[in-house]
Amino acid sequence: MDPKQTIYNILNRADGVVSGETLSAELGVSRVSIWKHIQGLVKSGISIASSPKGYRLTRDPDSLVPWAFEAWQDRIHYFHETGSTMDEAMLMARKGCADFTVVVAQRQTCGRGRMQRTWLSADGGLYFTVVVRPDIPMMLAGLVNLAAAVDMAALLRSLYQVEACLKWPNDILVNQHKLCGVLSQMEAEGDQVAHINIGIGLNVNNAPETEAPMATSLKAALGRPVPRRAILVAFLNDFERRMATFDPRIVIDEWKSNNVTIGRWVRVITFKDMVEGTAVDVDPLGGLILQLADGTSQTVMHGDCFHC
Ligand code: BTN
Repeated sequence: MDPKQTIYNILNRADGVVSGETLSAELGVSRVSIWKHIQGLVKSGISIASSPKGYRLTRDPDSLVPWAFEAWQDRIHYFHETGSTMDEAMLMARKGCADFTVVVAQRQTCGRGRMQRTWLSADGGLYFTVVVRPDIPMMLAGLVNLAAAVDMAALLRSLYQVEACLKWPNDILVNQHKLCGVLSQMEAEGDQVAHINIGIGLNVNNAPETEAPMATSLKAALGRPVPRRAILVAFLNDFERRMATFDPRIVIDEWKSNNVTIGRWVRVITFKDMVEGTAVDVDPLGGLILQLADGTSQTVMHGDCFHC
């Protein structure tokens, strides 16, 4: 086991100060190496108070380091800073990582959104990608993205009583401002899904509105900061349950009952096209059905949707 993890576990169990002498005896290394490992832990975002008596873990409900996650710790890969959790997750997925491997970052230097947009990823937000390996045909992959947004919105409503609504396909809005976005990448074997990497960016204690006026954060919505770890754990538990009993009809029903797109006049922009109409329904694969001005219908499977 990584000596840093052993030290973290000892401090975590101790619930008080542990002397450098005790740690060095337990790990069989010098007190200088213990001190170096402690510096490493502090650098990776763990709050440890040092005093002449030893070291004490300052319990931090916001910490995202794997050891703080208990049941999920073996599947969490934490980066203090990375380009994008999507890229890290793709490398792991291609090497055959387990279902529900999670890559989470304190901040991203090249966070990206749908349609090749930048995703602002300053400290304080929750940025992660989950690799899932559902046994489903490729054509149902879009519903997994919808399901992720449905689960995240539901837990934000229940944990924080915010009016989290869904804008097609998988944006989460609060007071018409964007709180959360979902980006996915899929690879297939034949016509079956090999893996889907679901990337979620949730504005928690960061302030995206300073650069993107149509964005908001949980902190702004609630008027107080919120610890991120409980959100990630609740999401992973809910989403794992969802995927174990994946039912396309339930996903669509739940998406519909919390959406703010159906009934609106919308403009959907894809990489090469633009279509406008009234959003009238979502089809069984998650496509948005539009009724155009000339009375005809058109279904769009992906794109950026603007409520007009
Ligand atoms: C969107 O609404 O455009 C999707 C935004 C997705 C952002 C997340 S943050 C974690 C993961 N890593 C990325 O680079 N993007 C996704």
